[in-house]
Amino acid sequence: MLSPLLSCLSLLLFALHPVAAVWPAPQNFTKGDKVLYLHQNIAVTYNGAPVCWSPSPHDDRVSPEEGTNTEQFLYRQITYTYGYVVPGNLTSKEVVQAGLSRALASIFHSKFVPWKLHKPGSEFEPDLSQGLKWLKTLQITQTGQDDPSAFKPLAGEVDESYNLTLSGEGDAKLAAVSSIGVLRGLETFTQLFYQHSAATFWYTPYAPVSIQDAPRFQHRGVMMDTARHFFPVDDILRTIDAMAWNKMNRLHLHVTDSQSWPLVIPALPELSEKGAYHPSQTYSPADIEHLQKYGAQRGVEVYLEIDMPGHIGVVAKSHPELVVAYNELPYWWWCAEPPCGAFKLNNTAVDALLGKLFDDLLPRLAPYAAYFHTGGDELNKNDSMLDDGIRSNKSEVLQPLLQRFIDTQHARVRKAGLTPVVWEEIPLEWNITMDKSTVVQSWLGAESVKNLTAKGYQVIDSNYNFWYLDCGRGQWLNWANGPAFASGYPFHDWCSPAKSWRLIYAHDPRAGLAADAAARVLGGELAVWSETIDATNLDSLVWPRASAAGEVLWSGRTDAAGHNRSQLEAAPRLNEFRERMVLRGVGASPVQMTFCTQGSPGECEYTL
Ligand SMILES: *[C@@H]1O[C@H](CO)[C@@H](O)[C@H](O)[C@H]1NC(C)=O
Ligand SMILES: *[C@@H]1O[C@H](CO)[C@@H](O)[C@H](O)[C@H]1NC(C)=O
Ligand SMILES: *[C@@H]1O[C@H](CO)[C@@H](O)[C@H](O)[C@H]1NC(C)=O
Ligand SMILES: *[C@@H]1O[C@H](CO)[C@@H](O)[C@H](O)[C@H]1NC(C)=O
Ligand SMILES: *[C@@H]1O[C@H](CO)[C@@H](O)[C@H](O)[C@H]1NC(C)=O
Ligand SMILES: *[C@@H]1O[C@H](CO)[C@@H](O)[C@H](O)[C@H]1NC(C)=O
Ligand SMILES: *[C@@H]1O[C@H](CO)[C@@H](O)[C@H](O)[C@H]1NC(C)=O
Ligand SMILES: *[C@@H]1O[C@H](CO)[C@@H](O)[C@H](O)[C@H]1NC(C)=O
Ligand SMILES: *[C@@H]1O[C@H](CO)[C@@H](O)[C@H](O)[C@H]1NC(C)=O
Repeated sequence: MLSPLLSCLSLLLFALHPVAAVWPAPQNFTKGDKVLYLHQNIAVTYNGAPVCWSPSPHDDRVSPEEGTNTEQFLYRQITYTYGYVVPGNLTSKEVVQAGLSRALASIFHSKFVPWKLHKPGSEFEPDLSQGLKWLKTLQITQTGQDDPSAFKPLAGEVDESYNLTLSGEGDAKLAAVSSIGVLRGLETFTQLFYQHSAATFWYTPYAPVSIQDAPRFQHRGVMMDTARHFFPVDDILRTIDAMAWNKMNRLHLHVTDSQSWPLVIPALPELSEKGAYHPSQTYSPADIEHLQKYGAQRGVEVYLEIDMPGHIGVVAKSHPELVVAYNELPYWWWCAEPPCGAFKLNNTAVDALLGKLFDDLLPRLAPYAAYFHTGGDELNKNDSMLDDGIRSNKSEVLQPLLQRFIDTQHARVRKAGLTPVVWEEIPLEWNITMDKSTVVQSWLGAESVKNLTAKGYQVIDSNYNFWYLDCGRGQWLNWANGPAFASGYPFHDWCSPAKSWRLIYAHDPRAGLAADAAARVLGGELAVWSETIDATNLDSLVWPRASAAGEVLWSGRTDAAGHNRSQLEAAPRLNEFRERMVLRGVGASPVQMTFCTQGSPGECEYTL
């Protein structure tokens, strides 16, 4: 397999200028400048026993039920042989084995020759005519036992730390407490290697390496809105992959909204039959399970949100008697975005429907998730003016009804073994009281985060001024000629400008908080609201911008010395990581022009 054709290669000068390639940055990282080649027959052990792996170029995005042609059949064989898709419960060994296969496959199949990261004409590759030193063993040790919650953890329940060393002599050691920590370490391992352009050799120029790493934040997420636009399962799986490469661990699916209901509920089939954009634009229970399992195997917990009692207009298509203000106009008197529609707040039939919905859905989600999000943003008080049972938009009338609504639904969520998540308006605008274990997702900024922590809640930060990825790309509403045109010109959207990776990178969810308040900030989520995002532009809008937040959440906004992380240090690593993501199948946008990435950083910096 590895033929000794080296003698015919010209003598290449060994002139490496390695940047510390890994993204997100490990907490502690020391490296040398020796070259080690990765042997395709590397012997890997897991807790002392040899472990098989498959250097398959295939991924496992095909579910085991699918596939009729030969290639898909082969996929399925690989799937079952190497435990990519595990029937029944996940086991630590299967998770590690599949993670190892993915890691090595990504090194051997990415064909990552980093010419874009070096000066044109420079000889940046090691000299193959010198004696090659091989990395021959990788010893993986898991020092703890995985609790069942390792694959559906609450914040803080799984230890994601790991230590990775590569000795100059060619032995690699990876130690972690949990199998998820092993996955994080394997991802770091992949990012140390490059392919040689002259032949099929893979090398790291960084030996010896010593890394001790652990996340700063426990909740490192992306929120995808599958209601404004539907995303096929494959696109969500690809997003999960990219999240895992970024060491992100929560995918929040904002699965329904007033525009569409793609979620198939067998006990209430009319919801998606009437509410989906098209029968093809739906997620079956098997799809959801596949997404959750696929995520769990990568240390990415997939949890769902049914946004209510606002943002639920689409239910009027199947249950018109339960919803008020559906598609009411002008929409801005009744909701933030058409079509409007909210649940009736004092209606036993609404509770009955939700009982049936939760009885069907929540037991299916609970094996793979610790959380369920009940929404609660942007409820417009006017909606209840149209409710025969209420006819009021007064806070003092509506607040007790909403309190009862939340109490009822959250009791159901907890009964299913899940922890409820809500948007910030529920406690901050409506003064709803909830159990302090409830997680509150904030989007309106630092003052909200501060007030929520002061009330004692745990917080996920999605500050729209930093971490909304849909912003700054213009209006999607059409503006009539005349006064409307003039009032809308130049048609910026509400949260313009666009959030560049640099702005995203500048945000610290814990900024300005005292230690006890900061401790309640579990982390954050990048929001992918999808009014003008679908499968065609998903990758380029999310990546590598979400990577910037991924590093803030894993490594911290500040480094070990307490200094802000620098764009000058980050950009070369992000440039490199972006190349890796593209080669691994995610269409991430470029960070800088090639002139800047090709070893001319000094010419692409602004310093005062
Ligand atoms: C999964 O684990 C649970 C609890 O540990 C057990 O009750 C169940 O039978 C297991 N399921 C499978 C398919 O192994
Ligand atoms: C990683 O290294 C640190 C420092 O030596 C040590 O305290 C920790 O226990 C190690 N972790 C594992 C999982 O071995
Ligand atoms: C990194 O090193 C510092 C100083 O030795 C130590 O305090 C810290 O715990 C280490 N971090 C990790 C994640 O091992
Ligand atoms: C409620 O409707 C009235 C018009 O009837 C409007 O003036 C007001 O702005 C609306 N309130 C909200 C919060 O949209
Ligand atoms: C809510 O419904 C109950 C039972 O129908 C009724 O007694 C009560 O007046 C209603 N509350 C409001 C604010 O309309
Ligand atoms: C309540 O409705 C009245 C009458 O339409 C309107 O003037 C007022 O602005 C509304 N209040 C809110 C909070 O929307
Ligand atoms: C919530 O409480 C604040 C201050 O205590 C008050 O101003 C506000 O009106 C209340 N909101 C509701 C919906 O009751
Ligand atoms: C935060 O709390 C302060 C003090 O109670 C209040 O004035 C402010 O309006 C609150 N802001 C938000 C966004 O809840
Ligand atoms: C550090 O970054 C924060 C924003 O995260 C910014 O407000 C602050 O000015 C920066 N400090 C320095 C010294 O640049």
